Amino acid sequence: MVMSTILSRKSVRKYSDKPINNSVIEKILEAGRLAPSWVNVQPWKFIVVKAQETKDLLCEACGGQNQVKNAQVVICCVADFDSWNKTHFGKVLAQKGLDDTTIDGIVTSSLLNPSNLGEYETLLRSVEQLTYAVSYMTLEAEEQGVGCCIVGAMANELTKTSDEMAQKVKEKLGLNNRQVLVDLLTLGYEENPKPTKKLRKSVEEVVFYEKIN
Ligand SMILES: Cc1cc2nc3c(=O)[nH]c(=O)nc-3n(C[C@H](O)[C@H](O)[C@H](O)COP(=O)(O)O)c2cc1C
Repeated sequence: MVMSTILSRKSVRKYSDKPINNSVIEKILEAGRLAPSWVNVQPWKFIVVKAQETKDLLCEACGGQNQVKNAQVVICCVADFDSWNKTHFGKVLAQKGLDDTTIDGIVTSSLLNPSNLGEYETLLRSVEQLTYAVSYMTLEAEEQGVGCCIVGAMANELTKTSDEMAQKVKEKLGLNNRQVLVDLLTLGYEENPKPTKKLRKSVEEVVFYEKIN
């Protein structure tokens, strides 16, 4: 079941005018919300964008990638550094029924909480977590018959291409300086649906047993 969705999923960059029902968008978001993460920290926020003005700005920030402005919906996937602080991380850990001493131990640990190491480590780990949520959303979009494309090439703190543009986007999306827009997920029904060949490295190139030879 999952494998057939993995096999049929592909990046879709040309969309028809057909709108996507809110109930379908909510299912895609739910797949992201339920994704696994490091000690269940869930350091993500998803902003659903339909306004053309915002999509146009995001398109510009992505170097003019047309799928961004032509998508019916763009889900902005944001890494939220504050999710790693005592207030937010502690709340998630308390849900598990952990006592205060254990929660303090986890929140202050360099092994378990990258925010004790620095901004770079926090960014790295937050991006790692977002990858799961974004992957889950792409698979649910496929299940729902909705085409999507992950878009990571944009002006932001990761690419460092244009501080000015990155700041404009942050303001438009209401992001603070502890929140980083990592990926966009552009969504729409494929204009002319057709299967594409999966271009991937061979099994021999990527899979090893016991050690890389
Ligand atoms: C983190 C990430 C960022 C990506 N950024 C872009 C992008 O900026 N523009 C784009 O057209 N595709 C982008 N892609 C899509 C990849 O190009 C695509 O997944 C890859 O070529 C494999 O093709 P497939 O998705 O059709 O299987 C991105 C994919 C990932 C996982």
